[in-house]
Parts: sequence; C-alpha cells; structure tokens
Amino acid sequence: MAQAGLSPHLVLIGLPGSGKTTVGRHIAEYFERPFTDFDEVIEHRFRKSVSRIFTENGEPAFRAAETALSKELATKPGHVLSPGGGWIANREAMAHLRSRSRIIYLRVSPAGALQRLGQDIASRPLFDTGDPTETMQMLYDARRRFYEEAADLTIDTDLLGRDALLTKVVGLVSSAWDLNSDV
Ligand code: S3P
Repeated sequence: MAQAGLSPHLVLIGLPGSGKTTVGRHIAEYFERPFTDFDEVIEHRFRKSVSRIFTENGEPAFRAAETALSKELATKPGHVLSPGGGWIANREAMAHLRSRSRIIYLRVSPAGALQRLGQDIASRPLFDTGDPTETMQMLYDARRRFYEEAADLTIDTDLLGRDALLTKVVGLVSSAWDLNSDV
C-alpha cells in the first residue's frame, strides 16, 4: 500500500534495450537518489542470472519476485527505479508503485532496441528461442499500450546518442516535477 508523505519514485519503463539502466544510473546520481535495478536485485536474491531464473525456476517465479520488490519499494522514499521491460505488464507489481511514481517511458522502435542490445541479447531469456526481430516486434505490440498508458513523460530515444539522451532526460525531469514534494 502506498503511504502519504513520501517523495516520488522516478520509474523508467520501456523495451529491453531502451536504455533504462543507463539512464537510471545517471539520473540517480544527478538527482542524488538511490538507484534500484530490478534485475540486479532479483539476481542477487536468487543468486543466479535472470536467464537461469527463467530456466530453472520459471518466469512466474521471476514475476513474483518483481511483485515482491515493488511492494517493498512502495514504502520507501523516492528512488530511481529500473524494472525489467515486462514489469509494466505485471499488473500486480505495477499496482504497488503506480501512485508513488513518476513514470518515464523511454520509447524506442523494435529495430532501435535490437541495435542497442547488440550482443547483450544473449542475457535476455525471452529472446532464447525464435527470431529476435520477431520476438522484439511481438513484445512491442503486446506492451506498447501499457507503456503509453502508464507514461507521465515520454522520451523518443531512437535518434539520440547516449549523452544526448542523458542530457534530455535530466532536462525534462527537472522541468516536469519538483522531486522534493510528496506524492
Ligand atoms: C524482460 C526484460 C529484462 C528482464 C527479463 C524479462 C521482459 O529486463 O527483466 O529478461 O519481460 O521484457 P530488460 O528490460 O532490462 O532487458
């Protein structure tokens, strides 16, 4: 349950490869907030990689861990959060944090996301089978509506290099919200 009197979380959402972790680390440092990368915390808790969690424990176990972490964070003061790309479709997890969050959608085309992921795609279990291009398109089609509906701020990232993207996010967040006021 959300509590009154807590500063908001800044939550980055978007496809795998949209830049959530890179942007998250940067804005956490810039705005002097703790940073939580969901996959990192969940890997630490299971003591294994996300890929192995999917294979050995199953995707539902991973989603349950996302939900548990979201619930814990609902009672914490403002962090910068980078959940995995599928968190948005995990409605229970999302419900724990929605009222506590300012949500930033890093919009990227499926082709742009694949390009950014490059070799890193090997660590994403959802891309283990089939054609990555087809899988990314399928994820985009299935999640696009969730991303758009949840977004308080949308940033198109396709044409931005890393530094331009980081500068843009800091500028937009600074002008959009007073991060010190409670939610
Ligand atoms: C997932 C995205 C991954 C990771 C897991 C599931 C998804 O995170 O949470 O492999 O459902 O899109 P990134 O978005 O950081 O790649």
